[in-house]
Amino acid sequence: MTFTVAIDGPAAAGKGTISREVAAHFGYAHLDTGLLYRATGRRTLDGTDPVEAARTLGPGDLGADDLRTPEVAQAASRVAAIPEVREALVDFQRAFATRSGGAVLDGRDIGTVICPDAQVKLFVTASDDIRATRRLIELTDKGHDISFEQVLDDLRQRDARDSARTTAPLKAAEDAVLLDTSELSIKDAVDLAIEIISERQG
Ligand code: CDP
Repeated sequence: MTFTVAIDGPAAAGKGTISREVAAHFGYAHLDTGLLYRATGRRTLDGTDPVEAARTLGPGDLGADDLRTPEVAQAASRVAAIPEVREALVDFQRAFATRSGGAVLDGRDIGTVICPDAQVKLFVTASDDIRATRRLIELTDKGHDISFEQVLDDLRQRDARDSARTTAPLKAAEDAVLLDTSELSIKDAVDLAIEIISERQG
């Protein structure tokens, strides 16, 4: 059985948490596609060519412990605008999406480009302030010394760049269900996503 759930949305909207919990609930595999771009961006900070970095990504790159920093996030967003970089990462994502047993993929272009035929598409959003507050807590919990303004700046810059690029820009698929998590607790957002997915499973 293949069953694909595509979860897209702007930076730090709660896609990761919702995807993880939904995948655990249904026993599906989960791929955080942002990690592929973060790992590629991370390698360019060491001087590797972006396209070369994307084409030769290995498990070691994906396991690096500094992929969550705003510096790496910015590098990810820059390399993500390069069509050849995106192309190098397509096959892996599509193979993951169609593995048997069900898959949840979260990113920016899953419902629009990677899996246009996904059975369920969610577009998760939240206000800028809520997103920055959530991300600030995540980062400070991990020991990063960063201000609310710096986090907010990172999110806004990336959203602007991710939305403006020509190839696979950040946008909701026409048939995506919009999930605004600004006023929802994590649990409520996850419950709502589970409800929507359950309805589609028929
Ligand atoms: O966790 P957060 O929402 O902050 O970011 P992420 O999902 O880890 O993605 C980091 C960056 O990778 C984004 O700002 C995008 O530029 C890029 N990305 C993308 O272009 N396409 C995807 N499917 C996933 C991420």
